[in-house]
Amino acid sequence: MRRLILAISAVALAATAALADPISERQAIMKSNGKTLKSISAIAKGEQPFDADKVLVALKALNDDAQKFDVQKLFPDGSQTGGDTTASPKIWEDTAGFQKAVDKFKADTASAVSASPADLDQFKIEFGKVAKNCGSCHEAFRIKKG
Ligand code: HEC
Repeated sequence: MRRLILAISAVALAATAALADPISERQAIMKSNGKTLKSISAIAKGEQPFDADKVLVALKALNDDAQKFDVQKLFPDGSQTGGDTTASPKIWEDTAGFQKAVDKFKADTASAVSASPADLDQFKIEFGKVAKNCGSCHEAFRIKKG
């Protein structure tokens, strides 16, 4: 299933036309974000030894996903509901604010990659900056499902 979603994503992203399933598309990107962040959070907590290569691979993956996050394509009118979306109506009410949050996420992941952390202290700073985006955007633009 996941492979199928990714295959569909690749085709959809290549096309300039509207996405067939923007909800699945944006959720697939977010799932990938979740998986990647988890892969390095133990390092940030000091539960796993620092590994510069592993960290850089993960930061690059987060940045790739962030840069793919095209608000117009992934949150078109009409995709407010449907599927099991947890996107908040605020995204459409305050699109400029949402775009700003996306831009900040893009900038922070890109700068974490350029920083290319060489030790744990440096990594913790970059990880903190990147991870803050997840919580603050979800808080403002995602509804919690009970
Ligand atoms: C600019 C806003 C924004 C940022 C930044 C952001 N997210 Fe999200 N995230 C969303 C929205 C909106 C949804 C709901 C998408 C939907 O259900 O349509 C979501 C959904 C998710 C989901 C659930 C996906 C699913 O299967 O339904 C996960 C997991 C997730 N985000 C992880 C992360 C992680 C980890 C980060 C940080 C590395 C992050 N997000 C950063 C806006 C954001």
